[in-house]
Amino acid sequence: MTPFSRVKEILNNRMLLWRGAPKNADDADVDLKDKHRETSFPNLDGEFSAQDLTRGKAKGLALIQAGIPAAETNLIKALRGLSPGIRPMPGGGPLLTDPEIAEIESWINEGCLPDPPVPPQIV
Ligand code: HEM
Repeated sequence: MTPFSRVKEILNNRMLLWRGAPKNADDADVDLKDKHRETSFPNLDGEFSAQDLTRGKAKGLALIQAGIPAAETNLIKALRGLSPGIRPMPGGGPLLTDPEIAEIESWINEGCLPDPPVPPQIV
C-alpha cells in the first residue's frame, strides 16, 4: 500500500532532480502549468494534494481518469513513455525508476486516498 505522502515525495524529489540536472540553463525556471497548458497542473515542485492530482490536467488530458486501471491512466502512461506523441515525463529526464512508478500505480489502484489526518497529541 502506498500512502499519498510517498507519492508526493517521489514526485517532489524527481522535480528537484530534473531542475538540478539541467540540459539547458532555462530548466530551473520552467513553469509546469505553462508547459502543460493547464492551470490545473499540480505544483509537483512543492505543495499539492491528492485531489490536485486527481483533478489535474496536462494538455487537455486528465492526469488520472476514474474507473480504469492505473496502468491505463494518462499519468502512468506519461511517466512510462507510453503516451503516443508525448516524450516520457518529466520531459528530457531523469525519469522515475520502475519501482517508483509502481508505487504511484498502487496508490491510484487503491483509490487515490489522501493521507489520514494526524490525530491530536495528548499532552
Ligand atoms: C498526463 C500526463 C502528462 C502529459 C500528457 C504531459 C505532457 C507534456 C508536454 C506535451 C510537454 C511539453 C513538450 C515537452 O517538453 O516534451 C511537457 C513538458 C514537461 N513535463 Fe509533462 N506531461 C505529463 C505529466 C508530467 C509529469 C507527471 C511530470 C513530472 C513528473 C512532467 C514534467 C514535465 C516537465 C519537467 C516538462 C518540461 C520539459 C522541458 O521543457 O524540457 N509532466 N509535458
